[in-house]
Parts: sequence; C-alpha cells; structure tokens
Amino acid sequence: MWLQAQDSSLVQSISSDIRHDYTWRWLENTKPARPVRVVIMDTALLEKNAMKIVSPGRGILAADESTGTMSNRLQGVGLESSEEARRAYRANLFATPNCQSAISGVILYDETIRQTMDDGVPISEYLSSVDIFPGIKVDTGAKQLANCEGEKITEGLDGLRERCVEYFALGARFAKWRAVIAIGEGMPSDACISTNAHALARYAAICQEQGLVPIIEPEVLMDGNHDATRCFDVTAEILSATFAACEEQGVHIPGALLKPNMIIAGKGSEVQISREEVAALTLKCLRENVPHDLPGIVFLSGGQSDEDATAHLNLMNEIDSNPPWQLSYSYGRALQAAALNKWASETPEASQQAFSHRAKMNSLARSGDWSATMEN
Ligand code: 13P
Repeated sequence: MWLQAQDSSLVQSISSDIRHDYTWRWLENTKPARPVRVVIMDTALLEKNAMKIVSPGRGILAADESTGTMSNRLQGVGLESSEEARRAYRANLFATPNCQSAISGVILYDETIRQTMDDGVPISEYLSSVDIFPGIKVDTGAKQLANCEGEKITEGLDGLRERCVEYFALGARFAKWRAVIAIGEGMPSDACISTNAHALARYAAICQEQGLVPIIEPEVLMDGNHDATRCFDVTAEILSATFAACEEQGVHIPGALLKPNMIIAGKGSEVQISREEVAALTLKCLRENVPHDLPGIVFLSGGQSDEDATAHLNLMNEIDSNPPWQLSYSYGRALQAAALNKWASETPEASQQAFSHRAKMNSLARSGDWSATMEN
C-alpha cells in the first residue's frame, strides 16, 4: 500500500513525530533495487532550538560535571560527595528565582537527568516548565590516545544513538561532547586532531538524527607555558578539522552550536595578553575557521577567573557588533564557583544569589553592556 511507484525520490512519508519523519526511499544501488526506511532529520526543529538556546541575553549553565569531577569540587569546599549531596546542590542552583532571564539551557550529567527537584518533580521537567532547555553530556570521557603519550581521545560513540533516544524521551533537547586538546612539545599530534575531529562530527550527526542540537566542544587547554599565538594556531587547526569532518558526515550546521576556548596564553606563560587582545584574537580565529551559517558560539570558561570570562565575552560583543553568529556562554566554573563556595559556607539562598549575580553579569556581556563597576 505504501509504495506506488519505483522512483529514486522520496516515495511516501509514513509517520512523523516531534523528532523526525520516517520515509521510504528506493535504494538504487542495491540489486535488486529495494525500498528502505530512512530517517529524515528534523532540521527545522534543530534550527529553532539552537536559535532559542542562543537567544539574546541568555546562555548555558554547564552543570554536567562527571561524578568524579563533582565529588572533587564538593570536597574542595569541605563537603562530602554523595548522590543526594550532588542532587541537593544542583537542584538549589536550578531553583534560583528568575534565572531563566539569563539561562536558556542547562547541561546535565546522566545521574542528574534522572533526579528530581526537592519537591519530587523530575529535574528536566522542572527546567522545561521554566523555559530552560535541559541538555545532556553524552560523551563518556577523554581517554588516553594510543601511541600518543599525554594526549586524549573522547569516547562514547558506541550505543550513542540508543542513549540519544532515551535522553530525548527524558526531556533533553541538546547535547554536549567535549574533546580535549593539549598543547606541549610535539602536541597536538595529527592523530589527536584527526581522531577528535572525526568523533565530534560522528557525535553531532547522531544527535541531529535523534533531534538533539549538538554542542561541539573542541577544548584547547590553558595548561602549559605556550603563548597566545600557539593557542591561536592550534585552535584554528582543530576548528577547521572539526568542521571539515562535519561537512563530510552531513552535519547540519544551522542546527548545531560550537563551544570553543578563547585565545589565551597558557597559564604558565610569562607573556600574558590583555583582555582586548584575547577578544580580538578569538574573534579573528573564529571568523577564519567557523562556518558563518552556524547559529551560535557558546564559550567555555576553561579555568579563567569569573570576571575574565565575563569581560572577554563582553569585549567580543562590544568590538564586533555584527558577528555572523550569536556570541554567548556555556560556563561551568565561571558560573558556579562563587555559588558552590556559598553553598558550603553560607545558605542555599546565598548560593542562589551568587549564581544569579554571575548569570546576570554574563547576560549583560552578551550585548557588551557589562562593566567592571557592576561587580561590586
Ligand atoms: P568550564 O566553563 O568550567 O570550562 O566548563 C565548561 C564545560 O562544560 C567544559 O566541558
């Protein structure tokens, strides 16, 4: 009933849901030619959600620390880490009154997307109800890259399609995958660049197929004593390799977001550059290596101070009043550090106020309207 004519074009749409249409196509290079069911990516949904995530004045809270990292953070402020301790701290952050004016999405960890707010409402349901997109970290961590001492490859492609289906059902509408690129003697190697670019593109393609906007995060680390020029060159290399791989694998760029580092000298370098230079070099590197039909760039903070992360974003939005993409934030430490300290040393309300303040400062930086005097 569903096949009327043999035709290389799409024959008949047989079902649709919020994510994608299933259609039947004649596959011509099989002998004999046979109809196959294919998934059509819902590009309109991906584009709409990507644009909403980077809508003016808003950005992302990265709260997707793995259990190990979150335990270190809690222990770092003198708190015990347990499933309930992690839930309670994060649920309090998410419940910050009116944080949706500055926060469009929250990246969750697998443990958190299955947890509830204090009143028993599932966290992803609560976030959606206050107009915040739940997102999900889908990589399973950066592991030692064989034959490349000191370098890492991010894993998590096995079973990713099935996990995306489950996360979508749990409410997630975007995802994150972080590749880690270290700078050092002989690093990054060609192998590190090409394997991580390839994995990022495969991840992005699978997420899009399942209706999740992929955040593509190739992070060039600040560790080391390299200068800003070296950071620029390595960032340019991983960005261009990543987008070449995305093109090869059919990633729909208007339905994706990029989460890059800024161009900064290594932490151990004696030649640090000014905030203005960071902003100008970052914009130059992005303009030269990122497709202009990408809707948005959501920076990571990567170990910068809270104020530097805000000031750099503010300057970029001030210098370039008409960039091809929205320039926004997806900060972890730079949005949470003060809130975590207050959580440990003061009250839940004080933690929310600290988070609210940083979120507001970064919201203002989205339009170049932040100034250092607002920090006091
Ligand atoms: P930072 O802003 O602390 O670098 O974290 C962002 C993030 O999500 C890293 O993957």
